[in-house]
Amino acid sequence: MNTGAAMKEEAKRQAAAGETVLVAENLTRHYPVGGGLFQKAAVLKALDGASFELQRGRTLAVVGESGCGKSTLARLVTMIEAPSSGSLIIGGEDVARLDRTERARLRPKVQIVFQNPYGSLNPRQRIGAALEEPLLVNTDLDAAERRRRAMAMMENVGLRPEHYNRYPHMFSGGQRQRIAIARALMLDPDILVLDEPVSALDLSIQAQVLNLLVDLQERLNLAYLFISHDLSVVRYIADTVMVMYLGRPVEHGPAAEVFSTPAHPYTQALLSATPVADPDHVSERIILKGEMPSPIAPPPGCPFNPRCPKAFDRCAQDIPRLHPQGDGRAVSCHLYD
Ligand SMILES: Nc1ncnc2c1ncn2[C@@H]1O[C@H](COP(=O)(O)OP(=O)(O)OP(=O)(O)O)[C@@H](O)[C@H]1O
Ligand SMILES: [Mg+2]
Repeated sequence: MNTGAAMKEEAKRQAAAGETVLVAENLTRHYPVGGGLFQKAAVLKALDGASFELQRGRTLAVVGESGCGKSTLARLVTMIEAPSSGSLIIGGEDVARLDRTERARLRPKVQIVFQNPYGSLNPRQRIGAALEEPLLVNTDLDAAERRRRAMAMMENVGLRPEHYNRYPHMFSGGQRQRIAIARALMLDPDILVLDEPVSALDLSIQAQVLNLLVDLQERLNLAYLFISHDLSVVRYIADTVMVMYLGRPVEHGPAAEVFSTPAHPYTQALLSATPVADPDHVSERIILKGEMPSPIAPPPGCPFNPRCPKAFDRCAQDIPRLHPQGDGRAVSCHLYD
């Protein structure tokens, strides 16, 4: 490419960055659990009202403890499951209104990478074939072109040409995660959902994979929905953070604000448990009482109140709503009503 064309490409990329590619409005997912002959089924509210947007070239990080609904959210966004209520607009199209064929056409636009890439790679399939499979299923490209694209993608994610003929077990965890990322990118998606993509990796390898993700996002203008239970991981990559507790967002806003002045007592507690690189930064670790309650029987009032160090009378009675705070952030806490 000559420089003129390269500059035009760059200008196009700049213009497209920030474009909204997904809008989620009040998404919920409820599961009936238990129930039998003489017993009514209970309702487990795995996700209970999440609203957010994803933009090209930007990362929304979703954080919270195990069981707060992160993977449920990932399954809705990737259209693996339908929401119980709420709406999902992807690329300007309301997913609920699409028929089966239209939905199938939209599906490649949203891809997912899981925590354990070994689970998503077929142990008997060579890497080249694994990367080409999405092209084989979804396009009519010929074998030579499929191979060319697989090779190019391997280079994009830092794999070498000789890896093409190897099997998944011949790779390290970090390399396998590179393969999973490469496979997710083969159909040129707009959105990548990353569900704990580095949680199973050693710290040094985590940094390499995060660097790769940042680099790919910049080059391909991808929107990321980055899921993690670990705030120190998302600090590095998030533009916006949504903190979840028991299926609900409790704080949502620009990453810089959430990290520098966490508003919700739950965010404060999560952050206080996160190691920071700055040795001058001394903060009191907030230890939360008890465990996260069951989403089948959440406590009355604010779901966080039994564990909250700042709870007062009202917190055990009224459920707080997400309130905009004026700095681009929204918080669901009676301290800020
Ligand atoms: N198919 C299902 N049927 C019933 N309950 C479910 C189902 N899927 C998830 N849940 C429940 O929904 C809640 C949220 O689960 P989810 O997997 O979304 O949490 P998570 O935040 O991804 O947790 P982790 O960090 O452990 O991956 C949990 O209480 C879980 O047991
Ligand atoms: Mg999960």
